[in-house]
Amino acid sequence: MTTSESSRPYPTPPAVEHPELLPYRAEFPLLQKKTYLNSCSLGALSQRSMARLHEFTDVWNEWGARAWYDIWLDEIARVRQKFATLIGAQLHEVAIAPNVSTALSTIATALDYSTRNNVVLADMDFPTLAYQWLVKERLGITCRFVESPDRVYTPPELFEREVDEQTALIATSRVFFTSGYIQDVRAVADIAHKRGAYLLIDDYQGTGQIPMNVTAQDIDFLVTGTLKWLMGGPGLALVYIREGLLPLMQPTVAGWFGHREQFEFKTREFAFRPDATRLEMGTPSVPTIYTASAGLDMVLEIGA
Ligand SMILES: Cc1ncc(COP(=O)(O)O)c(C=O)c1O
Repeated sequence: MTTSESSRPYPTPPAVEHPELLPYRAEFPLLQKKTYLNSCSLGALSQRSMARLHEFTDVWNEWGARAWYDIWLDEIARVRQKFATLIGAQLHEVAIAPNVSTALSTIATALDYSTRNNVVLADMDFPTLAYQWLVKERLGITCRFVESPDRVYTPPELFEREVDEQTALIATSRVFFTSGYIQDVRAVADIAHKRGAYLLIDDYQGTGQIPMNVTAQDIDFLVTGTLKWLMGGPGLALVYIREGLLPLMQPTVAGWFGHREQFEFKTREFAFRPDATRLEMGTPSVPTIYTASAGLDMVLEIGA
């Protein structure tokens, strides 16, 4: 920084661009007391999420286990639908998971590495993304890291240098958790697809704060979650799988929520559901379904 830069006065704050959004602040008790700048770790809790949480406990008290069949499975379906709407996906392309790490590791077991055994990753990304493939190195998978030149951004051309005919996928994020830099996802998708590789996007730092259309960005897999910019709290991740890839997705980890006839309780056979919910595992965190549903409503009302 030069002397003239350091002595420059702070700029005048810009006029509020969307005054109609200010009433939303009143919905967040935390914002009444604090200037809150850490949604990248935990989004603030709104009055409507709290009201929905009370609704969850009321339903539990009133219905007991019947809540599962009569109410909660529908609530889960509504959250999937809201997420699909938010990212421009179709309902059968989305699923829920308990957290992003679980979602990633499920997808990672479903890919075929027999002829494509390397994965291209970025050193700027949240580490849980790379861990999914680092633990598979003993199975013969190679992790290739793209190195940021300045710890702020990674030019798409650097991905191009690492991707070849043996690349299974590029796995990176839209917004780097380290710097806030927003990658050109479409450019990275084109690089992957040119070589027949897939693109997986960890969108945890993007969903809810920047518009997303998975079709326009040509994304194959997207994982994200509700505790940051979706203001929904911990315990819920969201997954998108491109329609055409669904039949190929046969993870080697499974749970009864992913079974085609879940309530037939078949012990001796497993059949994947036809849609993206084939990746779902066990009992979800229903309190977060409620709080996240309200967070998603708010983002859908306002727009990302
Ligand atoms: C980009 C990104 N991905 C993943 C995670 C962690 O996801 P989870 O704890 O749901 O596995 C974080 C957490 O901060 C993150 O910023």
